[in-house]
Amino acid sequence: MRTSQPKTIYLSEYQVPDFLVDHVDLRFELFEDGARVHSTLTVRRNAEARGRAEQLELNGDSLTLESVHLDGRELQAGEYEDRGELLVVPAVPDTFELQVVTWLQPHKNTRLEGLYKSSGMFCTQCEAQGFRCITFFPDRPDVMARYRTRIEADKSAYPILLSNGNDVERGDLDGGRHFVTWEDPFPKPSYLFALVAGDLVEQKDSFTTMSGRDIDLRIYIEPRNVEKTAHAMDSLKRAMRWDEEVYGREYDLDIFMIVAVDDFNMGAMENKGLNIFNSSCVLARPESETDMAFQRIESIVAHEYFHNWSGNRVTCRDWFQLSLKEGFTVFRDSQFSADMGSPTVNRIENATLLRTAQFAEDAGPMAHPVRPSSYMEITNFYTLTIYEKGAAVVRMIHTLLGPEMFRQGSDLYFGRHDGQAVTTDDFVKAMEDASGRDLGQFRLWYEQAGTPELTVEDEYDRAAQVYRLTVRQSIPDTPGQTDKKPQHIPFALGLLDTEGNDIPLTLAGESGPGDTTRVLELTEREHVFEFTGVASQPVPSLLRDFSAPVRVNYPWNRDQLMFLMSHDSDGFNRWDAGQRLAVDVIREVAGHAETDIDPRLINASRTLLNDREADQALVAKMLQLPSEAYLIELSEEADVQTIHHARERVLKMLATALRDDLMACYQRQQPAERYQVTPEDVASRSLRNMTLAWLLDLGDEQARDMALEQFRSATNMTDQSGALRALVNSPFEEERSHALDTFYQQWHKDPQVVEQWFSIQASSPVSGDLAAVRRLLEHEAFDWKNPNKIRHVVGAFAGQNLVHFHEQDGSGYEFLADTIRRLDDSNPQIAARLTAPLTRWRKFAHVYSEGMRKALESVRDKDGLSRDVYEVVHKSLA
Ligand code: PHE
Ligand code: ZN
Repeated sequence: MRTSQPKTIYLSEYQVPDFLVDHVDLRFELFEDGARVHSTLTVRRNAEARGRAEQLELNGDSLTLESVHLDGRELQAGEYEDRGELLVVPAVPDTFELQVVTWLQPHKNTRLEGLYKSSGMFCTQCEAQGFRCITFFPDRPDVMARYRTRIEADKSAYPILLSNGNDVERGDLDGGRHFVTWEDPFPKPSYLFALVAGDLVEQKDSFTTMSGRDIDLRIYIEPRNVEKTAHAMDSLKRAMRWDEEVYGREYDLDIFMIVAVDDFNMGAMENKGLNIFNSSCVLARPESETDMAFQRIESIVAHEYFHNWSGNRVTCRDWFQLSLKEGFTVFRDSQFSADMGSPTVNRIENATLLRTAQFAEDAGPMAHPVRPSSYMEITNFYTLTIYEKGAAVVRMIHTLLGPEMFRQGSDLYFGRHDGQAVTTDDFVKAMEDASGRDLGQFRLWYEQAGTPELTVEDEYDRAAQVYRLTVRQSIPDTPGQTDKKPQHIPFALGLLDTEGNDIPLTLAGESGPGDTTRVLELTEREHVFEFTGVASQPVPSLLRDFSAPVRVNYPWNRDQLMFLMSHDSDGFNRWDAGQRLAVDVIREVAGHAETDIDPRLINASRTLLNDREADQALVAKMLQLPSEAYLIELSEEADVQTIHHARERVLKMLATALRDDLMACYQRQQPAERYQVTPEDVASRSLRNMTLAWLLDLGDEQARDMALEQFRSATNMTDQSGALRALVNSPFEEERSHALDTFYQQWHKDPQVVEQWFSIQASSPVSGDLAAVRRLLEHEAFDWKNPNKIRHVVGAFAGQNLVHFHEQDGSGYEFLADTIRRLDDSNPQIAARLTAPLTRWRKFAHVYSEGMRKALESVRDKDGLSRDVYEVVHKSLA
């Protein structure tokens, strides 16, 4: 725990390590009351740093040091200094062997960093700085070593003993104990180290690589989960094949393992050859998990697998470079998901996340560049900016270079830097070198925070048949950054003629008609583009396929938006036009109880509901109204209650006007014979659940009966929980509580389903008020030590149930502050993450912002605040 103000770490102060470690030999003795770790490091002075440090400094965190040996001789007190966070050995030779023995208490580790226990098994989490909770080590990613790991434990309680690489030796020991030794031939940073010990079941499969090598694939789970691994295994094999085909990347070890654990701070972790997953991101079967879970699993399994190259073989020099691996890997997994499913829907989902949550982050007190220049606590920087904006930046390089050049760039990057720890700049350089393109200005995307805003004006000259587009860019100030330079933005657009057809685009000075979608490159504060040969006033389709993570202002009128919704050849922009129309209509009725909603929105929705020719996956997306969070993001000064009620009212009016169409659409979506996660089936289930929810929102009794029937007869969780959610958000109190009880009785033995049950209640704008949420915290299935439970109750309430969280008496904020203070001692990472909803207090109208600020202050004033929460709270209040 912190005793003084945490220190800020700056990228500008980066220095190469004074010492390098070539080899790490670990021996873990695992017991019920603790674990002893014997570590032997083969160390040498770094030639590149020669002449600087005399003394060796190793990081440590919460360790009990038992002994230190240097080249076989035990050091006495005075020959080294244990400063808690640092072990200092004053005089060391140029090369030596250091042996350190530490004692840990994994069963008391509630932070879930380093070595800990999760439902009876031992496991580790070392990214970013968890290895120092296991032994003293230069715990930074530019120190790469080969690891050999021997694990010893009781054989009956822990029959499975895993670590990175290949198992090279195993055997029995006295007292019913046994050991397994693992050797990882690839040098790796300490954050990729992993160990697992438990009574686990193994599910096996295999994969033949492009060069004909057979890889052993294994998923390890607790026995109760044996039926839940098939989807992850299939996803893994698809990801392995895809990475060979699209990136030419082959797997490198003989074995690839996945382990599922219930207590995990994040989604999953790419440890070399031994990925560790939060159960909710890997285990699924149709009866108990939803379509969303299936899709999430496919993309996360792929994401972690792809890290084997983008992250492990080529890793980060320091943590400021985090997006080097995360941005690139998210880009890769989204390409993969697009190839496996519906590219347009995928793009919509990515863009929604970016526009709703990342834009908000970029406009708030924690805004930081894709490559930050300072931090206090690195775990606070696993953000949407690093991941999602980072991915959008890589996507723009892909757009600027085209797929072939991009592939040459990635080949060059992997080839040039294999086995190295590098920077985002090295990545961009490889792309430049392979393509011959100058990405100098483009690099600003890594350095400047804030979301660029494009303001577009147009002018049509009928006589000259010229259409003139003026595009201005500006980037808002963010903490510590003002007066930003213009960035290099790929701006894809098309023009629609009066029939709704794409016009071939010819810029002034060009000969002949060009493509119908063009990527214009913005580099200046202002550009004027002149399109020639435009026979009639066109409707512009701007930022097609969301070609850059920017906001676009252009004054489309509602008729133009309707026109784009039905004619734009760009699926993303068809959807976006619908969103803009809905936003406009919701804003119009906000705070005006008498205002009717524009019948054009009703007509557009009716057309969609009845359109059986159109891509149903896109239709399902287009029918969803923009979320409250997005509407808040778009407001200057958000009034949550007004936004909520306006959106509700539009929803109710739509449902009322479209009742028969909704009924018909619901009836048409008959459950498939066999459950499959195809875009078509997912769309059908999503339409079915959406129409049901709209109808129940109205209090329609026929719909209530339909929901009860769907709830009873469902053969998959998407249908069952869809019906449950609709009932929970309906006015039918008796049915709601009955369904909740039945559901819990049916599923109480499955923690993943119980998580869903929690979040459906905690996020309900109808029944999920603070009192209800407090009751959930008292429920037998709630567990303060399990991050998933906290996320599905407290996180769901504060993040999704905005109308109740933002109760004007401030009770929601006080509740969240209490929770943060409580968790700060046991799990500071989770506490800091939960703080996010409060950090944007300045965005809200005064009635809200005062209470939010006070809540933050009450967290700030807690004694012994962790570094994690300290950073978030102090930056938010600054
Ligand atoms: N590196 C993990 C990923 O794949 C995320 C993670 C970070 C997991 C830190 C645990 C701790 O994105
Ligand atoms: Zn990742």
